[in-house]
Amino acid sequence: MTWDELIYWCNNCTDCDLCKTRHNVVVGTGNRHSKILFVGEGPGYYEDIQGEPFVGAAGQLLDKMLSAINLDRSQVYIANIVKCRPPQNRDPLPEEQTACIKYLRQQFKLIRPQIIVCLGRIAAKAIIEPDFKITRDRGKWYNKKGIDIIATYHPSALLRDESKKPAAWEDFKQIRDKLKENEENER
Ligand code: URA
Repeated sequence: MTWDELIYWCNNCTDCDLCKTRHNVVVGTGNRHSKILFVGEGPGYYEDIQGEPFVGAAGQLLDKMLSAINLDRSQVYIANIVKCRPPQNRDPLPEEQTACIKYLRQQFKLIRPQIIVCLGRIAAKAIIEPDFKITRDRGKWYNKKGIDIIATYHPSALLRDESKKPAAWEDFKQIRDKLKENEENER
């Protein structure tokens, strides 16, 4: 499948009820050849209107955190577990996640990242394991099919509770170091 086919498939999706209330399908953004893929939960109000992930307050914080490890949006790829906005920003329902995960799987195949960063509990449960506990298990590396995977707090959680920021910073430093390590191994 090509990117154009994937985007067409997503834009025309009616596989769950979120299609009834969406304004835009938020497929993802960034560098399609990136070594690193960030995965959030699902679009919020602004993302739904603009058709881009992480453009609201959480997105601004994500940009700052990327910049702290010398990255910006043009160097990474950013996507979500569900591509359409859950009403009132509620958690995406299990059946919505199940209906949508095929698109993210296709993105994994197209991007072939070295590293996946799960932003928050919903992404970590869907990608790493169903009984993932974000407070207990964030900052640990997992490996699936040769891809290094780590979870950290969702930027929205950091906006609600500043005391989580030092832990998130530790996670981002680990991500920076892993990217550097991979680069050195490629030399
Ligand atoms: N929160 C998410 O999980 N994803 C977005 O795209 C925006 C906010």
